Order: sequence, then structure tokens, then C-alpha cells
Amino acid sequence: MIATEDLTNSPQGIARAAEILRAEGLVAFSTETVYGLGGDARSDRAVARIFDAKGRPRFNPLIVHVPDVAAARHYARFDARAEQVAAAFWPGPLTLVLPLRPEAGLSDLVTAGLETVAIRVPAHPLAQALLRAFDGPLAAPSANPSGKVSPTRADHVRAGLAGRIEGILDGGACAVGVESTILGLDGAPSLLRPGGVTVEALEAVLGVGLVSGGSAERPNAPGQLASHYAPGAAVRLDVHEPEAGEVWVGFGPCPGAALSLSETGDLVEAAARLFHVLREADQRAGAGGRIAFAPVPEVGLGRAINDRLRRAAAPRG
Ligand code: TXA
Ligand code: MG
Repeated sequence: MIATEDLTNSPQGIARAAEILRAEGLVAFSTETVYGLGGDARSDRAVARIFDAKGRPRFNPLIVHVPDVAAARHYARFDARAEQVAAAFWPGPLTLVLPLRPEAGLSDLVTAGLETVAIRVPAHPLAQALLRAFDGPLAAPSANPSGKVSPTRADHVRAGLAGRIEGILDGGACAVGVESTILGLDGAPSLLRPGGVTVEALEAVLGVGLVSGGSAERPNAPGQLASHYAPGAAVRLDVHEPEAGEVWVGFGPCPGAALSLSETGDLVEAAARLFHVLREADQRAGAGGRIAFAPVPEVGLGRAINDRLRRAAAPRG
């Protein structure tokens, strides 16, 4: 067991987090999407510890976080399309999968031996401050035990990883609430994971439709295994009328719902609340309980929300 330090959003907290990271320790920190579990992306030891702390399979590569596009160009090859989307959406909830510059010195564990690297420039001021204080690339998967619900608050991180990591840097609740969109640009632009930047917005900037990349059986983003975000309770989707004993989670007007993603049917609010509500519903359902979600439209952020809900509802492997 490691004593997990609670670090505040302050110059002292950020300096302490950077110090832990320089010593190859692990610090969870807020981004605008979800909390990330950060470690030095150049250090085999730090990256190996990320996999161990999460119980994450080693074949599933990590996202490298950098403060700006200039730093990103150091680790990945940017073509005109990559420059264009980076200019439009960074800093922000978009991850680009690009050809790796093997000479740049990232740990091979980060990329799981692939010739591509996933890279992102987060917008959250605390993530930005940490990256600048650390002055290096941070590998950071979501700060939850592998296969479980992603954390959008510091206490979610503590519940899952206390005793396994050196610190938690608390930047409050995450504003976006679902993970970054992953766009593959090592070939035709492909959607590897729907997320905080909508497909519609990406297609408008790229001027072409995205091909959908990967599947549960042969994932292009290897983390996209079918069962993920698994709460303890069983989950049923697209439910207009819940059965007795189900904790019903509404979207829009749902009289009698126990909880709601957004009472006004606002997708931005629903994404921001998603993982917190999923945890809350799980607690209310209790052991062996059941959760039922009202339908969420498959447009804009609704695609990312439905993707996460389908994984939460998938049969557990
Ligand atoms: O919003 C986010 O992206 C958060 C915050 C912390 O930045 N991070 C996050 O990381 O969601 P994680 O590890 O939970 O998801 C990373 C995904 C996985 O599905 C992984 O397979 C995929 O990125 N990935 C990483 N490197 C890749 C690569 N070279 N090619 C394809 N997919 C890759
Ligand atoms: Mg994750």
C-alpha cells in the first residue's frame, strides 16, 4: 500500500505533483474529459506502474498528453489533415492517432509496440499547469481500475485507486464528462472512439466523412473491448417504462425516474453527469440490482453517451 496524497489546485499542489512524476511516481489529475492517471511517458518504470495500478492489459496502449501542438509534433508525424484538426480542436477533448516518431524517446509500453501513437492536448487549466510544471509528456489513461466506470471527480479516483498511486490532484468535476474522441489519421480519417468532440464537428473541418474504425472483436483502439464501464448492477437501455425494482435513469421528461442525465434533455449536461449518475444508480441498485436508462438520441454527444452506455450494458467477459 502507498499513502495516496490529496493535492490541491494550487501552486504547491502542482509543484508536489510534478515532483512525484519526476521521481517516476503516479499522479491522477483532472482533465476536461475525465481524470487521467499520469506517469512519465518516457519512463518504462512509470508506465509499467500505470498498467499495474489499473490492472490494465499491456496490449492496450495509452494516450500521451502534451501542453501544445509544438510538443505533439515532437512525438508524432503531422500531415496537413492533422495540423488542420489540431488547429481546430486543441486544446480540447480530441485524441489523434498518428505515426510515431520512434526516435522521440517514448517508452515502448506506451504504444504497446505499435507504429502509431495516440496524442492529446487537454484544455483543463490544471492539466495544462501540470504539464508545464512537469515539462515532459504524460501517459494518462482514465484513472479507474481497468473495465470500471471512468472517474469525473477526485473522490471517484480515490474510491478506485487509493493505496496504488502517489497522488490525486483535485481540479473539481470534469466539465465534458466523457473521454476524448479518438480520430485515426494514419490512413483515411477514422473514428476509433466517439467522445467529447462530435463526429459532425470533425467532418465539417475535415470535409470528408469518417470511416468507423475497429469493432469489439478486432478493435483498432484496443481499449474498445465490448464490456467496459461495468457497474455492479445489470444495465438495460432504451427503456421507456421501467420494470419493478429497476433504478430508472431519465433523459428529458421521465416522470417517476429515480435519477436523470438531464431533465431538459440537454446532451452536454447529460455527458457531464453520465459517469457520476452511473455510479449513483449503481449504489442505489445495490448488489444484484438493475438499472434502466431512458433512450438518448444518437446525435452529437449522444453518440459518445450511447457508446459508453452500451459498454456498461454489455455481457461481462
Ligand atoms: O479523455 C481521455 O482520452 C482520457 C483523459 C485522461 O485524457 N484518457 C483516456 O484514456 O480515455 P484510456 O486509456 O482510458 O483510453 C485510451 C484509448 C484506448 O481505447 C486505447 O486502446 C486507445 O486510446 N489507443 C491508445 N493508443 C492507440 C493507438 N496507437 N492506436 C489506436 N488506439 C490507441
Ligand atoms: Mg478508460
